[in-house]
Amino acid sequence: MRLKSNKTVSRLTDNDVTDERTYLNRRQLLKSMGFVGAGALLSQSAQGIGWFDDDDENVFERRDLSFTQPDQFQINDTVTPEVKSTSYNNFYEFGTDKGDPAENAQDFTVDPWSLTIDGLVEKPITLSYDDLFKRFDLEERIYRLRCVEAWSMVIPWIGFELANILQQAKPLSRAKFVAFQTLYDPEQMPGQRSRFVGGGVDYPYVEGLRLDEAMHSLSILSVGMYGKTLPPQNGAPIRLVVPWKYGFKSIKSIVRITLTEQMPPTTWNRLAPQEYGFYANVNPKVDHPRWSQARERRITTGGLLARNRIETQMFNGYPEVAPLYSGMDLSRFY
Ligand code: MTE
Repeated sequence: MRLKSNKTVSRLTDNDVTDERTYLNRRQLLKSMGFVGAGALLSQSAQGIGWFDDDDENVFERRDLSFTQPDQFQINDTVTPEVKSTSYNNFYEFGTDKGDPAENAQDFTVDPWSLTIDGLVEKPITLSYDDLFKRFDLEERIYRLRCVEAWSMVIPWIGFELANILQQAKPLSRAKFVAFQTLYDPEQMPGQRSRFVGGGVDYPYVEGLRLDEAMHSLSILSVGMYGKTLPPQNGAPIRLVVPWKYGFKSIKSIVRITLTEQMPPTTWNRLAPQEYGFYANVNPKVDHPRWSQARERRITTGGLLARNRIETQMFNGYPEVAPLYSGMDLSRFY
């Protein structure tokens, strides 16, 4: 998602494959020089991918969660090892390199937290940190996550349907859209202090959905992954997950959800409207202006030689959302 070089913004190059390899090589080099997690090279992780760090750098404490596991969300795809989905991240508030969030977010304070649902609702709601885990029954949903950069993972999220909380707030009939906002806290988020570190994004990071998309049963607010609370690099304490859309819609560390009448601005659309639309539905037939979206690199077992190239599926393999867009030209509303 790197933008063209005439902007100060940086985002992915045309092909992200080299990104991971370069990243891995760099980490391996640093490790062999003794700079990164001294023991990590000796202890290959259970998944046999020793050059990803294990837990020695991740000091943020995560709690076990109780949740149900509904059958319909247990999918056949191989789940991405936790060590990968928690060390290869996009969270520009903590830096633009894939390893930056895991390195820079470990001291992130999530308790106390406050999440407000307001705007065109009858009953505005404010949730505390504890409310995030207590107010709704939590369930595990194994979803594919397809980044617009053409890589993907399969992640066991824990959370609840976004519709549950929106219904409690009672949207007014005028409400047509839902706007989301990430925490703005430059003291804790180095990317918000410097345009260089934060990729030129105007913070806070904002996202949006149409109200009917937000109400769809696949849209969840996630408070955990792999059985535990979220690590900060994945959006602790609460983030959106909309599995049929490119990953940039799944905004992290949310403090505010506002129902609106007008389509709200969204971070990547503001930066490069011709490249990133409001809808951002995964669609193998609509290429990014600078790269194909027909295929993706599935990050599973990995390793330097593993390519794991697979075909991208329409709506990321969630055809049940198609009725939301009936009659719309999806190459125009990308
Ligand atoms: N949310 C915020 N606040 N800031 C970000 O930079 N990056 C997005 C999305 N949510 C981002 C964000 C992008 S581009 C992707 S692909 C996903 O988070 C990545 O989620 P993950 O790191 O948990 O895999």
